[in-house]
Amino acid sequence: MPIKSLIRTIAHYPREGIMFRDITTLLKDPTGLRTTIDQITERYRSEKINKVVGIESRGFIIAAPVAYALGAGFVPVRKPGKLPADTIGCDYQLEYGRDRIEIHVDAIEKNDRVLLIDDLIATGGTMEAAIKLIEEMNGTVIECCLVVDLPTIGGSKRLQQQGHKLFSLCRYD
Ligand code: PRP
Ligand code: ADE
Ligand code: MG
Repeated sequence: MPIKSLIRTIAHYPREGIMFRDITTLLKDPTGLRTTIDQITERYRSEKINKVVGIESRGFIIAAPVAYALGAGFVPVRKPGKLPADTIGCDYQLEYGRDRIEIHVDAIEKNDRVLLIDDLIATGGTMEAAIKLIEEMNGTVIECCLVVDLPTIGGSKRLQQQGHKLFSLCRYD
């Protein structure tokens, strides 16, 4: 079963005009979940990734099992005020609003080989903010990995034009 066929679309959520790509239907499917994690893991098996960074909250669901399977550490990038120790943060624009993400200042070390994971890229604002945080800490983002790319919104193209590597399991043109 292809991954895309297990993702559900909800029209006009959370706002009029948004086609919400809902991965909960993929996650609840045992084969769908396993295939998602396995496909991502296989791609990075020989990349010597030592940290997998996951973006709250849907990114956590994918990033943690990938980190485990790769034998890497897991690092959370979180919404404001959620991380208990010293953080650095970055503000960004969403398809439907504004937000900010933060990371612990000691989460990434110089020369870390980082795989950055989220469930979906739309405007790319979230992913771009996370890249900035990792690079500010002198980590190397080997690739940004998504389950879903929404290329019509332009985020993936913009990040690629900035020189970042992106990989997605499926896309909605
Ligand atoms: C959604 C999605 C991505 C981000 C993509 O997260 O999970 O993280 O938006 O949008 P962008 O490319 O335009 O930045 P959201 O902030 O809605 O929160 P959630 O993951 O906690 O549901
Ligand atoms: N995050 C930003 N845009 C989204 C969309 N269209 N579907 C699901 N999550 C999103
Ligand atoms: Mg998210």
